[in-house]
Amino acid sequence: MENQNTYNYKVVRQFAVMTVVWGIVGMLVGVIIAAQLVWPALNFDVPWLTYSRLRPLHTNAVIFAFGGSALFATSYYAVQRTCQVRLFSDKLAAFTFWGWTVVILLAAITLPLGLTSGKEYAELEWPIDLLIAVVWVSYAVVFFGTILKRKVKHIYVANWFFGAFILTVAVLHIVNSAALPVSLFKSYSVYPGTIDAMVQWWYGHNAVGFFLTAGFLGIMYYFIPKQVGRPIYSYRLSVVHFWALISTYMWAGPHHLQFTALPDWTQSLGMVFSLVLLAPSWGGMINGIMTLSGAWHKLRSDPILKFLIVSLSFYGMSTFEGPMMSIKTVNALSHYTDWTIGHVHSGALGWVGLVSIGAIYFLIPKVFNREAMYSTKLIETHFWVATIGIVLYIVAMWIAGVMQGLMWRAVNDDGTLTYSFVESLQATYPYYVVRLLGGLLYLSGMFIMAYNVWKTIAGSKPADARIPQTA
Ligand code: HEM
Ligand code: HEM
Repeated sequence: MENQNTYNYKVVRQFAVMTVVWGIVGMLVGVIIAAQLVWPALNFDVPWLTYSRLRPLHTNAVIFAFGGSALFATSYYAVQRTCQVRLFSDKLAAFTFWGWTVVILLAAITLPLGLTSGKEYAELEWPIDLLIAVVWVSYAVVFFGTILKRKVKHIYVANWFFGAFILTVAVLHIVNSAALPVSLFKSYSVYPGTIDAMVQWWYGHNAVGFFLTAGFLGIMYYFIPKQVGRPIYSYRLSVVHFWALISTYMWAGPHHLQFTALPDWTQSLGMVFSLVLLAPSWGGMINGIMTLSGAWHKLRSDPILKFLIVSLSFYGMSTFEGPMMSIKTVNALSHYTDWTIGHVHSGALGWVGLVSIGAIYFLIPKVFNREAMYSTKLIETHFWVATIGIVLYIVAMWIAGVMQGLMWRAVNDDGTLTYSFVESLQATYPYYVVRLLGGLLYLSGMFIMAYNVWKTIAGSKPADARIPQTA
């Protein structure tokens, strides 16, 4: 029953729990493909288990199922608390949960079957794309509807970031997925050749900028001040951060297509905007970290805060590395190598993963009507296991990547290549083993989390908090 005196926590609980479940599934697939790169026989000659099919399953599961659930849970929670009203529509909110779950299940079936549009991070075929569009527009209606009926005059900055993420992902998805179906399971992009590549990476990069960044910055702006118990360091900086970030990200996509058939000036434009992007990214990171000023001691005893703050240092690291990699001469070395994979996972495991995990630890006791998580010690253990896992993963990929780049470009005096490709692959094996180890550690952290969440919610009577009656 809809009760306008309480917040709608049901949908937050559903998405919060599913964040943990999908995190385990997506990362397990990540560990499997990491193992396949060490032992290729692990596909058992079964087509569904081949690397080519499981890799997109991994990326879709971690980004859209794990990351997406974390974003739904946190945005639905934060928008209600900061607007001091119940969600715009309980029914539509429930539809977003079940609709998103169906999308994920369809992805888990079709991708191993080899049904794909072939566009990275947009692999799902057109009928699923249509469902995504409907669910996403419903999400926008629930979110902005809640903002419209708010009791608080001001729209808190976290909502600006969540709002930009929701609007932009809708536009990106609809434009990039435009396709001509030829059967139920096959379609062709409406864009020809180079334009298709350009649209795809305009989508791809902004998926990083808005799905993997703006939404999670919304998490940062709500959950860090809450956990520290202080307002954000500089509200003015947060507004500058918002406008600078969203106006810059849109132009940086071509850095994924350096030295391709794209017009040269677009590649250079992509590089310049990527370099500019360093400033707003670091402005945001500093704003988040400085929120702790005067309360640094809390970091020592509060593992949830550790997750949230260390995620920001990984955010800073990957947003320094990204602009460097967009420089054409650097990209000539890094592209096609495992350096890119290292960069991706310092952002994915370090930033997206840690900030989501921290926020879910914050949320679970609140929405399940508990004082605190079952065990703080286990949160602390999770933090260290995950952090060591990330360091192993990314350091291995950095070393492997630079080594591959250098081996591929080494030439003898007579102009022949010094190394064959297979030699570079052989040299990479030890680093693939270290990456696998790092991935296993990160995944085991998720199992610790699942146990802790289970013990926290088992036997609890979930209750929705009352909305304060004075605005
Ligand atoms: C200022 C911010 C950033 C810039 C300028 C940037 C730049 C870049 C560049 C130049 C590449 C390599 C393109 C190539 O050679 O193919 C790349 C790849 C990538 N980055 Fe970033 N990056 C930034 C932040 C991030 C963050 C925070 C994340 C994740 C949360 C991220 C996720 C990715 C992904 C997933 C790819 C691989 C795309 C693919 O080829 O499939 N980036 N980025
Ligand atoms: C246990 C944790 C994880 C492991 C072991 C893992 C492993 C892997 C492996 C082996 C690849 C393929 C690399 C290649 O083709 O050379 C990959 C790709 C990728 N993973 Fe993960 N992953 C993990 C977690 C995550 C998370 C949490 C995210 C996002 C939130 C993520 C996002 C991605 C992306 C975007 C790519 C594609 C990169 C590209 O195309 O450049 N991964 N992962």
